[in-house]
Amino acid sequence: MRTYLVTGGAGFIGSNYIHYMFKKYDSEIRIINVDKLTYAGNLANLKDVENRENYEFIKADICDNEAINKIFEENDIDRVVHFAAESHVDRSIKNPDVFVKTNVLGTLVMLNAAKHAWENEDGSFKADKKFLHVSTDEVYGSLENDGEFFYETTPYDPHSPYSASKASSDMLVRSYMDTYKFPANITNCSNNYGPYQFPEKLIPLIINNALKGNKLPVYGDGKNVRDWLYVEDHAKGIDMVQEKGRLFETYNIGGHNEKQNIEIINIILETLCEMLPDDDERKKHINKDLIEYVEDRKGHDRRYAIAPDKIKEEIGWYPETMFEDGIRLTIKWYFDHAQLMENVTSGDYQKYYQEMYK
Ligand code: NAD
Ligand code: DAU
Repeated sequence: MRTYLVTGGAGFIGSNYIHYMFKKYDSEIRIINVDKLTYAGNLANLKDVENRENYEFIKADICDNEAINKIFEENDIDRVVHFAAESHVDRSIKNPDVFVKTNVLGTLVMLNAAKHAWENEDGSFKADKKFLHVSTDEVYGSLENDGEFFYETTPYDPHSPYSASKASSDMLVRSYMDTYKFPANITNCSNNYGPYQFPEKLIPLIINNALKGNKLPVYGDGKNVRDWLYVEDHAKGIDMVQEKGRLFETYNIGGHNEKQNIEIINIILETLCEMLPDDDERKKHINKDLIEYVEDRKGHDRRYAIAPDKIKEEIGWYPETMFEDGIRLTIKWYFDHAQLMENVTSGDYQKYYQEMYK
């Protein structure tokens, strides 16, 4: 039975990936999830799988060399899927240090532990061991003109402390592949949306605020463009890259679904009104008057757009969930998990929100 070590599996994409993998492989694989449980990690995201015999949760920091090496010593790990990171751009602008620590130094700890466990005496690596580093399209910087896209060959040009830390971690992985022939891949994906996303990010924040009748903060002119992908399609892409991708290669993941932020907000408002029953009290306050233009994000990247040609042509990956369907699935999930949303937005979240949005 193949053993996966997933880092950051209690976060948004990691928990969706774990659900996807158990749905696909059921008891054919074993998953160990290592997560520090920062504000962004929530074991409630994994309630459905926590009692499986082929699942184990270990609370640890990826920067903790000893704890990570111990996991490799005690388990014969076949695949590492490395999600754990500080992931929110706005937080990186306020407090860059933890981004460098977790995203750069934490990745170094993961690389060293896997290398130590998998390397033979002659410097070659044990058969069929693979490390996948989950990265972002933000490392490529910002596109100004329609018709331009991020390719795997686009030079790195990160602008926020978050994207600079992810770019640095990508460079470390590249250096291990080039120097040691360390068996790895890197994926650079566009903006994800879907169940279990923490409501500091645009889509869940807008859904949550609209349902409560709170203002919907739009940075700048609202015309910045992001390329949205349903999270399960990302999970599928990661699995396909590990199984079918060429080692040492980078693959961009994205579904050509570019939208301005203001378009996303209007779609959410319209879809909420369509989906709520007529007698639902919340329907009365959901309208465009909630939209509020606020100060722009510092260094705000204008447009991201992934060219997914390589992953489509080489591996046969394509996105299955169109945005119209994905956003309905997402909103339905937030309706069905109102209590979970209540739990994560009480306490510390309120403090964050007040400081961030004044
Ligand atoms: P998230 O913030 O929702 O989850 C991050 C997880 O990592 C949390 O469970 C957190 O507890 C854990 N973590 C943080 N620091 C840790 C540490 N020091 N040790 C162990 N665990 C730690 O993030 P996400 O949106 O799920 O993103 C996951 C990965 O995917 C990140 O590497 C991110 O850069 C990348 N990515 C995200 C997107 C996106 O749209 N969200 C797109 C492309 C790539
Ligand atoms: O592109 C991939 C990246 O997407 C990931 O690497 C990051 O981890 C992930 O957080 C995401 O980064 P963004 O900065 O693009 O996502 P965010 O949801 O924070 O913002 C999306 C857009 O919406 C962006 O242009 C800023 C804007 N925005 C965001 C918030 C939270 C607003 O206008 N108002 C808001 O309140």
